[in-house]
Amino acid sequence: MGCLVRRAEVAASLLSCDMGRLGDEAARLEQAGADRIHLDVMDGVFVPELTFGAGVARAVRARVTIPVEAHLMVSAPGTLAEGFVDAGCALVTIHAEAAPHLDRLLQRIRELGARAGAALNPATPACCIRWCVDCLDDVLVMTVNPGYGGQKHLDYVRPKIAEVRSILDRAGSTASVSVDGGVTADNARALRELGAGILIAGSFISRAGDPAAAIQSLR
Ligand code: DX5
Ligand code: ZN
Repeated sequence: MGCLVRRAEVAASLLSCDMGRLGDEAARLEQAGADRIHLDVMDGVFVPELTFGAGVARAVRARVTIPVEAHLMVSAPGTLAEGFVDAGCALVTIHAEAAPHLDRLLQRIRELGARAGAALNPATPACCIRWCVDCLDDVLVMTVNPGYGGQKHLDYVRPKIAEVRSILDRAGSTASVSVDGGVTADNARALRELGAGILIAGSFISRAGDPAAAIQSLR
């Protein structure tokens, strides 16, 4: 019997969108059927690029009715997380590699009223989240090295998706698993079969002539 392949939610990243029209772009992606808007926040330190802050998150939030999530690719997530919760982000994801006090910061994000996510770079083992599963609402598995949109999907990271799902399931956690980086229609089914419940896509959707069809093809 074929394994159950769950329908995935699609989070549309704005990173490859027209930076001069982010509000319009977010509204257009909602119209095209995106389940969430994914904001790739970069500080130019944790990753080379610099993108946007909580003020942009607040402005984007005002233009859509679907959840907005912040992926903090920043070296000091403890300093910035509260501003994104305050801006109305429903999920704030911090990198395990940038949070020596991961458990405490995840708890803080929840106390502030948002869902808390932990992101793992390609080289970071799944076991890093083992002892904070009770503070997690999502684990984001990076399938590119963070910092840029439009990169090649790193196939060799895929087994980690199943590992993370297994750690969460064994701990009785209902936290979701997101996959972020080089997600396209060509790999979406394989990622869902491995346990990905949320597919984050930027360039695949932004570059598509028909964003609605592109989003549908990921589900
Ligand atoms: C990369 C970001 C990803 C990226 C995804 O650092 O975290 O969200 O924008 O973009 P694509 O889908 O183009 O790889
Ligand atoms: Zn991202």
